[in-house]
Amino acid sequence: MKILVTGGAGYIGSHTCVELLNENYEVVVLDNLSNSSEESLTRVKNITGKSLEFYKADLLDKKEIASVFQDHKIDSVIHFAGLKAVGESVLVPLKYFHNNISGTLNLLEVMDDFNVKNIVFSSSATVYGNPASLPIKEDFPLSATNPYGRTKLMTEEILQDVYCSDKSWNIALLRYFNPVGAHESGKIGEDPFGIPNNLAPYISRVAAGFLPRVNVFGNDYDTLDGTGVRDFIHVVDLALGHIKTLPKLFTNPGVVIYNLGTGQGYSVLEMIKGFEAASGKTIPYKITDRRPGDIAACFADPFKAKKELGWEANKTLADMCTDTWNWQKKNPDGYRESQGEN
Ligand code: UD1
Repeated sequence: MKILVTGGAGYIGSHTCVELLNENYEVVVLDNLSNSSEESLTRVKNITGKSLEFYKADLLDKKEIASVFQDHKIDSVIHFAGLKAVGESVLVPLKYFHNNISGTLNLLEVMDDFNVKNIVFSSSATVYGNPASLPIKEDFPLSATNPYGRTKLMTEEILQDVYCSDKSWNIALLRYFNPVGAHESGKIGEDPFGIPNNLAPYISRVAAGFLPRVNVFGNDYDTLDGTGVRDFIHVVDLALGHIKTLPKLFTNPGVVIYNLGTGQGYSVLEMIKGFEAASGKTIPYKITDRRPGDIAACFADPFKAKKELGWEANKTLADMCTDTWNWQKKNPDGYRESQGEN
């Protein structure tokens, strides 16, 4: 079985490539490296002792996509490629719509041309907007609160319409909660450019001494300790969710939708404590104003994925913090570090 992974050099993509290769899938990666590094794929090969094919290509270029399908008989696509910074999406929405929506349309048209009609789409819990209650189930109402979120929601809707028009498509919409952690080898992990927007990479930069303190965005939420609560999920558990989804897709289920979360919420302060335990360092923090657009709490009901895919997250908060810290320590400058050391 040959799987095309768009965005395979990125954070979740690279971890998924490892698990695909471990399961003896053949892997072809398409990535434009706009927010990732080819070094991640070298490390994927190093971890697994297996090879994969890489195309440095852009989804905005249909000819480039088509050449991949010409060269390989693809059984399914896992589509990660996309821009993902919420704040940036508010500033440059057209860039987000062009890249994430037009890119996906090109991909789907080429898939259709080559009669490849199996796709797993990398969606997000952001499509639930500000949920009315918790935990979040897949049939909750959907909404978007920023252009990034809207691209996820629009892509879900586009895929549903594609299926309505042609029932030979099989489509899995996987809604990720908050991916954190890294491969336990410390060879691959999250490598954001510049100052991180997300909590876990920010805390690990503080623990490493690159940033002075964590800004905790508000402690007056209606949560246990007043700070935001999220369903942090280990990226390897998330990657394994894709491995469990593929066999389901090959049973011709039409459109299927799953939350990939742990079902357990942890607060910002609990995350900081977890990192202190993992790193053995005191992590300074300061309570600041709420970040506009943030919600108080968000966590999944992951039962549907367990029931229908036989998947559940197994790793603990300690695993998430330990593995993030291990990656940070071994790669203080991410993939830009002295290459080959790992
Ligand atoms: C964000 C995106 C979400 C995206 C996800 C990817 C928003 C509104 N949502 O989720 O669409 O899918 O990233 O992982 O941006 N926090 C701090 N200090 C920091 C950073 C974060 O206190 O320096 C807090 C936040 O207020 C929040 C929690 O940590 O309560 C998690 O934040 P973050 O890691 O940015 O993820 P989300 O905002 O949940």
